[in-house]
Amino acid sequence: MVIKMPDTKKVTLQEISQKIESVSTIPTVAFQILDAINDPDASVNDLEKLIKLDPSLSSKVLNMANSAYFGQTSPVYEIKHALINLGFRTVTEIALSASVCESFKSNENIAHYNRTGLWEHSVAVALCAKLLAKTIKATYEEIVFSIGILHDLGIIMFDQYLNDEFIEILNNPDVQNYPLVLFEKELVGFDHQELVHEVLKTWKLPEAFKASIANHHIVDNNECGEICRIIYLSNIICNSLKIGFVETTSIDMDAYKLCLSELQLKEDDVEVIKDKLQSEIKKAEDFLSMAN
Ligand SMILES: [Fe+2]
Ligand SMILES: [Fe+2]
Repeated sequence: MVIKMPDTKKVTLQEISQKIESVSTIPTVAFQILDAINDPDASVNDLEKLIKLDPSLSSKVLNMANSAYFGQTSPVYEIKHALINLGFRTVTEIALSASVCESFKSNENIAHYNRTGLWEHSVAVALCAKLLAKTIKATYEEIVFSIGILHDLGIIMFDQYLNDEFIEILNNPDVQNYPLVLFEKELVGFDHQELVHEVLKTWKLPEAFKASIANHHIVDNNECGEICRIIYLSNIICNSLKIGFVETTSIDMDAYKLCLSELQLKEDDVEVIKDKLQSEIKKAEDFLSMAN
């Protein structure tokens, strides 16, 4: 892999993370929804109040609740009804997706990348993570869905705040043959996981949640638990199926097998999940078109 070094002085991780105001990448309401997702005491009423405070979010949630994906037989006109009909977990997934999708709105292409493609990848990783969680009978489906939606925010930060370097990386002819993180690290000195990790320090989220986003391409780290493995595997599955933006086509087979064995999954399970994911993606057209 050949990487041309820029002539200018490298920006440090701390400098760039200070420059990134998280509110410009993630709206405040998304943090409040994440609090509700991670708070076992959060109630349906809390979530209803939170969504209703933001009229644009309310209308997006209602649109989604009435979309074909959820197959409602009669129209849903109120957030309260969406919560009754679809349940707390599903509405948190819709609300989080609806609150962050604005950051992914842009069809400007840089080589094989655009933000809409990254949104498709993020939704696919979220859906795949849910399927994996369901397969291993884990009880945190909405948490892995949220992490899936947010896991590549570091790429948006590269696109937004390190655009010259990002363009140079994506135009490297070898970029799809090696992990994207290697190019980022070699050219800029840090990768999109480290960047999001630095910004995440200021977010009030459970450590396991932050660690899974900050280590989604790493398996040999003590911070990585079951949720991290699920996101790692989901990334591999979605990249291998070439859904949306593909971060890399290369797979570290040792790390992949380690994840499978730690989650007590077999290759056959992955094949079943791939089939299910393809049909989930077809059904999730409304989720995918949120960022159009
Ligand atoms: Fe990533
Ligand atoms: Fe990813």
